[in-house]
Amino acid sequence: MDLIKAQQDKSVISTNTQGRGSVRTVENQPPSHSLHCVKAVGSAVPVMASVRWAFRCQQGWKPSRDEWLQAARSVQSEEMFRIGQFVFAKDAKSAMAGRLLMRSFICEYMELKWSEFTLRRSDRGKPYLENPPKDLCPVDWPWSFNVSHQGEYAVLAALQGLQVGVDVMKTTMPGNKSVSEFFRVMTRQFTEHEWSVIQSSGSEHQQITSFYRHWALKESYIKAIGTGLGFNLQRLEFHLGSDAVAEGRVIRQTKMYLDGEEERDWMFEESLLDADHHVAVAIGPTVEPDAGLDPLATYLSNTPYPFKLVSFSDLISKAKPLTEEDPTYWDSYQLSY
Ligand SMILES: CC(C)(COP(=O)(O)OP(=O)(O)OC[C@H]1O[C@@H](n2cnc3c(N)ncnc32)[C@H](O)[C@@H]1OP(=O)(O)O)[C@@H](O)C(=O)NCCC(=O)NCCS
Repeated sequence: MDLIKAQQDKSVISTNTQGRGSVRTVENQPPSHSLHCVKAVGSAVPVMASVRWAFRCQQGWKPSRDEWLQAARSVQSEEMFRIGQFVFAKDAKSAMAGRLLMRSFICEYMELKWSEFTLRRSDRGKPYLENPPKDLCPVDWPWSFNVSHQGEYAVLAALQGLQVGVDVMKTTMPGNKSVSEFFRVMTRQFTEHEWSVIQSSGSEHQQITSFYRHWALKESYIKAIGTGLGFNLQRLEFHLGSDAVAEGRVIRQTKMYLDGEEERDWMFEESLLDADHHVAVAIGPTVEPDAGLDPLATYLSNTPYPFKLVSFSDLISKAKPLTEEDPTYWDSYQLSY
């Protein structure tokens, strides 16, 4: 896993003493027992790790027959069936990439073998790991992870001790409508404040870019809390900071208001994967806070880093077949091209 390993080599270990506990943090490290269980003087302290992966699953991935059949065998049978139902190959590839990202991440960071865990979905569709390992290290914070796929990319964000949601949005000019007509149809998705920011951001392209930036922010929060459709989006309002979003850097200035009150327990990391793809990561408290420790303060004490590109061979390097090969799966995939 060349790229992933390269990413790991840039790992940062730092000690935070601002929170209620003194917590050693490791960014982007694979789990190993030596790293996971760090002993402070007299007591064990949790390690906080964090992962950001992006996979170019459209132009960047034109699977051969063998690759597609291998990918199909590497996901759970119900997901293989679901992916096989897509009419368009691009949707099938995105969904497949999302599954491979999650399985690859779980193998890499939770030390589970590919065939020895099961991903389930909540009632609202959010994937989670059934029976996550508890015995790696008693003081490890639990992992949270989420994937998103849109445009050219499938992305995964994961971290320990906090809740995470991710959304990638491609900036696309409306095809069959004017920008003002498109905005009119979308009126209810954003608040007055958000519309004023979007519509005062310059050219039509800049307005659409701002629109999708706000969209990714809202979706990232909705995905972190897992509610999916049905959340009244007018309850959420985003206030952007002054830093511009750019490729290769991450900004954390954006604030979220829920029902008019600033949510200080939530933070948002924004970056561009390329000029057209905006990605937002929502990070917030877990349902069961860890008494005596402050994961958000710990996390904030680290410099955020951008998403790292991974390849198909990275994603599949630990894969093991979960089902029998089905050659007709390739035939129907080709028909959807
Ligand atoms: C799934 C949902 C939460 C996001 O959908 P999306 O933005 O189209 O899709 P993304 O590519 O970002 O994410 C899809 C992935 O998120 C995960 N997911 C599914 N349901 C989820 C949920 N309730 N919470 C978190 N993640 C979820 C899955 O891994 C899914 O991939 P899969 O379908 O291949 O299994 C969608 O159901 C939804 O409700 N969206 C809100 C719609 C809306 O009005 N948005 C307006 C924003 S301004």
